[in-house]
Amino acid sequence: MILHKNNTFYLQGKTYSYVMRVNEWGYLEHLHFGAPVGEDDLGYLAAARELSFAPVPPDAKIFSLDTSPQEYAGYGQGDFRTPSAMYTRSDGGIASRFRYAGYALGGELPQGLPAARGGELLTIYLEDACAKVRIALFYAVFDAVLVRWAKIEAGERISIKRAYSFSVDLPAGDYGTLVLHGRHAAERTPEKRPLGHGALSVGSRRGASSHQMNPFLALYAQGAGEETGEVYGFELLYSGSFTLVAERSQTETVRIAGGVDDTNFSWQLGVGEAFYTPQVALCYTNSGFGGMSRALADFLRSSVIAEKYLHMPRPIVANNWEATYFDFDRGKLLALIDAAAPLGVDTFVLDDGWFGKRDSDTTGLGDWYVNLKKLEGGLAPLVARCKAHGMRFGIWFEPEMVSEDSDLYRAHPDYAIGRAPRCTGRNQYILDFSRPEVVECVYAQVAAILRAHEISYVKWDMNRHMTEFFSEGLPAARQGELQHRYMLGVYALARRLTEDFPEVFFEGCSGGGGRFDAGMLAYFPQIWTSDNTDSLSRAGIQWGTSYAYPVSAMSCHVSACPNHQTGRVTPFSSRGHIASLGATGYELDLGKLTEKEREAVRAQIAAYRRVAALVQTGDLYRLLDPFTGNYFAEMLVAKDKKTAYVVGMTVHAVPADFPRRIRLAGLDGAKKYRVEELGLTCGGGTLMHAGLPLPSLGDCATWAWHLVAEA
Ligand code: GLA
Repeated sequence: MILHKNNTFYLQGKTYSYVMRVNEWGYLEHLHFGAPVGEDDLGYLAAARELSFAPVPPDAKIFSLDTSPQEYAGYGQGDFRTPSAMYTRSDGGIASRFRYAGYALGGELPQGLPAARGGELLTIYLEDACAKVRIALFYAVFDAVLVRWAKIEAGERISIKRAYSFSVDLPAGDYGTLVLHGRHAAERTPEKRPLGHGALSVGSRRGASSHQMNPFLALYAQGAGEETGEVYGFELLYSGSFTLVAERSQTETVRIAGGVDDTNFSWQLGVGEAFYTPQVALCYTNSGFGGMSRALADFLRSSVIAEKYLHMPRPIVANNWEATYFDFDRGKLLALIDAAAPLGVDTFVLDDGWFGKRDSDTTGLGDWYVNLKKLEGGLAPLVARCKAHGMRFGIWFEPEMVSEDSDLYRAHPDYAIGRAPRCTGRNQYILDFSRPEVVECVYAQVAAILRAHEISYVKWDMNRHMTEFFSEGLPAARQGELQHRYMLGVYALARRLTEDFPEVFFEGCSGGGGRFDAGMLAYFPQIWTSDNTDSLSRAGIQWGTSYAYPVSAMSCHVSACPNHQTGRVTPFSSRGHIASLGATGYELDLGKLTEKEREAVRAQIAAYRRVAALVQTGDLYRLLDPFTGNYFAEMLVAKDKKTAYVVGMTVHAVPADFPRRIRLAGLDGAKKYRVEELGLTCGGGTLMHAGLPLPSLGDCATWAWHLVAEA
């Protein structure tokens, strides 16, 4: 609900209130973001007071922006904390002072960018007292999440240096921050640390949201735990270079702000033109990190990921990458399809190497036509064989890339970002998606393949980060627009392909989980979580990912051992159990399995189908943290609390182990549950508060429990 009363805006979600007011000098101040409050006059919370060295704006007395809790901060007007927007006018002046200029119920979505569906919309207008610039702040109120974004409109020519999506000033307190950092094959490791004075700034300058830092930041009141305490989550719906800042000020207040990274960003705005920032989801909970994750997961599933995927069973795929890498021909693939079919797999996905002259990662990207030397008869025999087995066919593309050794590059060397000699990454260049003709050229090729064959699944990969940052399509003064225009091009292609081929299921990927973000989820309902498929590593990666994303968005495959990334050997059952905590699949030569293993796959798939609905729509509870202890355990509970699924792992076997307990979570204390594997029936309260014996197992061994409530 949105209410405007006595110069105050009350944005009331189900689990939070967000309150702003226009103060007596006409500035928009932030008063409260936290647990629900009534529609009281909260102006006393921002009472102005004098502070030495705090500049006073020309139209105010006492009041200083230096200490005021603001909604969107200008620059050069006395607020020395992180600015939200910065731009220069034609005379080179840079100061901006934003004053309230009205509001409207409703709002506009950010053009060309991923956007959440629904929510109750509010627009607040600010006017710069120093330049002819108007800022529209947009708010979309959802039950447990508030979405914000902004639009900068120029009444005179300006050059934008920064345009953040949001800024929020929280009251003085002792906070900590949680970020998800990592690297290729080790994505989204949670890291918590106290927030000291000054600014903690995280982000990516790689042209992609990145493996290295996820576009997500949580701020928590010290002492917050998995299920208790105050936690704020901030998550960008953006897949390019970004910045998120948490800044503790001289008065102990904390500003959280962020958006498109501005290390190398500028945007020329002519009179009458507008720039839209990406959206950001803000979430508050007093139910700890678990409460935050469930709120974000519900929001992403219901309002960001396309609606049709909420209940649609996910394809259980067999992917040939780790089975063959580039070394395949028609015969090998047909054999893999034949091996997958009787096991219950429903989609065969042909990965990298089927197009152009691609026999290694040095050639062929950009040439999206079938390599007939490798695949006699093209894709048709493969599609036909899948169909004959009642299976579907999926295929891999890396639309944003070009190899130097490709027909596309030979014809259009200027289509690549930068000028020769350029840096390579995995031997390839990035196509300049800031240019519509480049996007069009890739669309035509990809669409031709999708039109020519019955393809029901596309894995969209992206395997290098951006360098040079130069476009042949942009004038000198606009080179700073390249990275954001590139993302607009990526989103345009993703939107067009998903709209033109609604029957195709798209999975995102970027060298594993290098672009695992809410922006991508607006187009692709799931993302390949990591190239690291080792079940122990994956337990951690999926645990970290779950802070900010639903398990249904994580693509998780069972792969061969010794594992190709870590060399570790883990039990087949562990690989199945960990991969069941997401959109499951297989990535190994199913033809090489023993009969016992084939039986295990059949059983795993049957078991997965039983929990698939829980994976898609259930609530996640993180029980045992593999980053801080010797055990991993996660639990999914159905919304109606009638069923639950628990998976756990022992990292290292414990010699002379003693009895330990694991407490479950999220159950209905008033219901009785049968724990099938243990042959035990107990009250939900008992399972949550007294717990169950924690299985004592060998290295990387796992267990799973199915809980069913008694009628
Ligand atoms: C990336 C992906 C892998 C696979 C390869 C193919 O690394 O993450 O899953 O598709 O590319 O080259």
